[in-house]
Amino acid sequence: MKDSHLALVSLLAGSAPICQALSMPHWGSEPDTRLEKRLQRVAYAGINIAGCDFGMQTNGDSGTPDCPSSVGPTQMQHFATNDHLNLFRLPVGWPYLVNYELGGPLYEPFFSTYDALMQACLATGALCILDVHNYARWYGGIIGQGGPTNDQFGNLWAQLAQKYASQKNVVFGLMNEPHDLVMTTWAATVQNAIYAIRDNGATTQMILLSGTNYDAVGGFQTNSAPALSSVVDYDGTQNKLIYEAHQYLDGDGGALTECITNGVTNQLAPLTTYLRSVGRQAMLTETGGGNTASCFTDVCAELSHLNWNNDVWLGWVGWAAGSFDSSYNLTESPNGNVDTALVTDCIAGKFNNPP
Ligand SMILES: *[C@@H]1O[C@H](CO)[C@@H](O)[C@H](O)[C@H]1NC(C)=O
Repeated sequence: MKDSHLALVSLLAGSAPICQALSMPHWGSEPDTRLEKRLQRVAYAGINIAGCDFGMQTNGDSGTPDCPSSVGPTQMQHFATNDHLNLFRLPVGWPYLVNYELGGPLYEPFFSTYDALMQACLATGALCILDVHNYARWYGGIIGQGGPTNDQFGNLWAQLAQKYASQKNVVFGLMNEPHDLVMTTWAATVQNAIYAIRDNGATTQMILLSGTNYDAVGGFQTNSAPALSSVVDYDGTQNKLIYEAHQYLDGDGGALTECITNGVTNQLAPLTTYLRSVGRQAMLTETGGGNTASCFTDVCAELSHLNWNNDVWLGWVGWAAGSFDSSYNLTESPNGNVDTALVTDCIAGKFNNPP
C-alpha cells in the first residue's frame, strides 16, 4: 500500500529525489523531501492510560485499581487535540471486571467505570486498545495450563466483544505480558479467545496477540511468534491479528530514569526482519523511559526504527499516563496541556515530526 502511495507521489511530483528513492528499499534511507518524510511514519501512536489495572501482580494476584476516571478523559482529549495522537491503550485487571468471580458476568459498577474511559477514548476518534492486564494468570494459575480454563477466559472475551461489537475502533488486546508458560499451549488459549470474540459479533476489529517472557521484543520471533503463527481468524486470514510486544531501555524492565540502549540492533531489528519475512504486522504497545537526556536519545531512536519500518510496525504506545503522577519515573501524564519532555520529544514528537 505504501509503495503505491510512493508511486503516486512520484508520478505527481516527478522530482528526481523521489524517483531516486523509489529505486531504493523503502526503509532505512534518509528522506529527500518533507512529503516523503511524512510517509515514513507509523499509522498510529499514543499513550497508555493506566489505572484500572493498578494492583495487578505478575502472578495474577490483584490489589486496588485506581481508574483515571477524571484525568484519563482530559488527558486523551489533550493528546488527541494538541499532539494529534490516535492510539490509546486502556489496561484493566480481569478480577475487577468480574468482581473476583472466575467465569462470572461483567460486574456493572466496575465495568461502567471502565467503559466510561473507553467511551472517552472513542470520542477522540482514536483507536482504543482494551488491554486485559493479567500476565496470562488468575491468582497464580496460568490460563489453559492448570489455572482458569480456556472457556473461562473465552467467556470474559465473549462478554467484552458483545459490549463493543459495534465499535470498530476498539482493539482487543487479549492479554498483557504472558510469561513462564508453554507457548504452543498458550496459542490454543489465544485461538479460543479469538473465536469467542468473533462469535459474539465483533467481526471486524483488530486483535492483538502477545507472547511470553513478558511480551519482550527481544526474542519474540523465536520465543513467541512461531507458536502464534498458527492462530487464525475463522476465514483463515491473519491480517487483523496483530502481534504486540513491549520494550524498555533502562536495563531494569522500565523502572529507572536513565536509558542504556535504544533496543534497535539486537532486539527490534531482528523482529522487524522476521515480521517482513512472514508478512505480519505488530505494534509496540509499551515503551518509555525517564525524562532524561539518555532516554530522549534512545527512545527517539527506537521509535525512528518503527517509523522507517512502517510496513510491518503499525504503531507505538508510550507507558504511561492515566493515574500516574510526577513521582513515577516513567510518567507521561501531562500537567494540564504541558507534556513531559519525553512525550514532547519522542512519543508525540516522532509521530508529528517523523522519522
Ligand atoms: C527511579 O529511578 C532512579 C534513578 O534511575 C532509581 O534510583 C530509583 O530506584 C527509581 N525508582 C523506582 C521506584 O524504581
